[in-house]
Amino acid sequence: QTLRELVCAMPKAELHMHIEGSLEPELMFEMAERNGIRLPYASVDELRRAYAFTDLQSFLDIYYAGASVLQTERDFYDMTRAYLERAHADNVRHTEIFFDPQTHTARGIPMGVVIDGIHRALQDAQREWGMTAALILCFLRHLSEEEAFATLEQALPFRDRFIGVGLDSSERGHPPEKFARVFARCRELGLHLVAHAGEEGPPEYIRTALDVLHVERIDHGVRCLEDAELTRRVAKEGIALTVCPLSNVKLRVFDQIHDHNMLELLDAGLAATVNSDDPAYFGGYVNDNFVALFDSLPLTREHAQRLARNSFAASFLDEATRERYL
Ligand code: ADE
Ligand code: ZN
Repeated sequence: QTLRELVCAMPKAELHMHIEGSLEPELMFEMAERNGIRLPYASVDELRRAYAFTDLQSFLDIYYAGASVLQTERDFYDMTRAYLERAHADNVRHTEIFFDPQTHTARGIPMGVVIDGIHRALQDAQREWGMTAALILCFLRHLSEEEAFATLEQALPFRDRFIGVGLDSSERGHPPEKFARVFARCRELGLHLVAHAGEEGPPEYIRTALDVLHVERIDHGVRCLEDAELTRRVAKEGIALTVCPLSNVKLRVFDQIHDHNMLELLDAGLAATVNSDDPAYFGGYVNDNFVALFDSLPLTREHAQRLARNSFAASFLDEATRERYL
């Protein structure tokens, strides 16, 4: 078994993917057609050519525009089903999925339509394949804390359908502290807490995500290594980093995959994991991320096993189930 075969075949958990970022251009055009929405691109090819990003914001602009085709419960179901099929083929046994309700409620789509459509696909995957999946509601950090509170209120009738909250969208200029009170409320509600930090933003945002928001994992976190003291702390406390290698290259956090710091993260004792972020936009699903990394960096079988183990250890699966994967 080659190393490439090993990383593809090994059971894994995915902990960082945005469901709206799994909407492939073909499905986007199909939904636009059936919902009578005009996309500002003439074809699937033209849309794909627009996926040449220079930074996080240049991606987000296109990603939010693409999400406008999602209108009905069926649309959310179909998008989620397509992702779960890809994840299942990549030997993902458990996935924790982000969704961005504000992108939809701002367009007049009811919270229930979004959550019910996604949730029904998760139930089908569990029933058909025994794959487990959970939802994490993300607040858009470029919007206000007040809007985050309003979103939380709208989601509370569906409290049993999501396990936690996260923080995503434009990082620079929107530090974690902006959402201190809403995260404090979510903590009281017993929700799991995560946040994107240290993707484009400085290591300081990782520190405040931990100290002010009390998050349990850091999404991305690759800039952690710029601060030696922070790196030692994150390693010591066993805080996992949900790293997304192809995303990092597409959004120019690293120039090329050969420059990615995954080996340094692991060598520093950090609980890094491999994830796809927005697979339809960044060139692949979780196994594509593993293959790109293992083809480009001097990573070994032991690293592969550690990454798979980290993915389950850092998951929000109940303790007994988690132990069975370790
Ligand atoms: N929303 C979707 N993908 C994201 C990313 N990589 N960073 C921040 N917000 C996002
Ligand atoms: Zn992300």
